[in-house]
Amino acid sequence: MAAPKIILDCDPGHDDAVAILLAAQHCDVLAITTVSGNAPLTLTTQNALLMCELAGLDIPVHAGADRPLLVPAAHAPRAHGATGLDGPPRPEVHRSEASNDAVGCIIETVRGHDDVWLVPVGPLTNIALAFRQAPDIVERLAGVSLMGGAIGPGNVTPTAEFNIWADPHAAQIVFATGAPLVRMAGLNLTHQLCVGPTETAALRTHGGAVSTFVADLFEFYLAGYRERAGLEAAPMHDPCAVLAVTRPDLFAFTARHVDVETDGTLTRGMTVADERPGTDASPNCEVAYSLDADAALALIVDAVCSYG
Ligand code: BDR
Ligand code: CA
Repeated sequence: MAAPKIILDCDPGHDDAVAILLAAQHCDVLAITTVSGNAPLTLTTQNALLMCELAGLDIPVHAGADRPLLVPAAHAPRAHGATGLDGPPRPEVHRSEASNDAVGCIIETVRGHDDVWLVPVGPLTNIALAFRQAPDIVERLAGVSLMGGAIGPGNVTPTAEFNIWADPHAAQIVFATGAPLVRMAGLNLTHQLCVGPTETAALRTHGGAVSTFVADLFEFYLAGYRERAGLEAAPMHDPCAVLAVTRPDLFAFTARHVDVETDGTLTRGMTVADERPGTDASPNCEVAYSLDADAALALIVDAVCSYG
């Protein structure tokens, strides 16, 4: 079967970096688009370019929105450090972005190819802007597979996950848009896919520039989770959205109606899933509830090690 065509919209970010490596192994990545999120846009774009250069990936990187639609920009230095990719020694980046028009790239790419998946793993600003500017692209998509939200506790507030909280208005547009297929990998799912000392050791044993870089990323990322939450393993959020396209057989999904709270004092950015038995709300989303974590972890480690 042909590899799925995707646009990876990201804000690298440790787990975004792994998502790039995984996607490049298993998908036809037509473009990487970047957005303000874990770090300011200039850094997330540099980080995407860094990962492509390090791994020798010939994928164009287009910079996108430098701020959310309506709320002020917020970043996640506690999880990802000031650069967004703290941990490993930072190599010099020689590549440049293909454009500063991620939204135009998304629109033109979807118009030019059948059955493209959008895989957003950061705030949904670029995707919402593309849907607003070019509503015709929605029906052309194979689907949207996003990392965001939570059916249960959040991470940035008690009720909200970072990507949705960071641009709740964009998220509301994406969930409400009626895209043929939206798959949601929220925190309830991504916390089932955790990397820890075993995966880090496997990458160090394998050696090589990419595996060593990712092992260093894991160590920084794990130290943060250990310090903040007392966890010995840390969730690989963003690769879940890639795997939901390439290996949906590893997941259990349930169709739900999901809406986003944009204004709540306590609940801004909450993804409200209608889980009432017998509800008459039409589903707009396949919510991922569980996955085969061992198989998913093996795919992640294999993908990183495949770069030699
Ligand atoms: C999400 O927020 C970011 O910190 C991660 O890259 C992931 O996309 C998890 O809440
Ligand atoms: Ca991310």
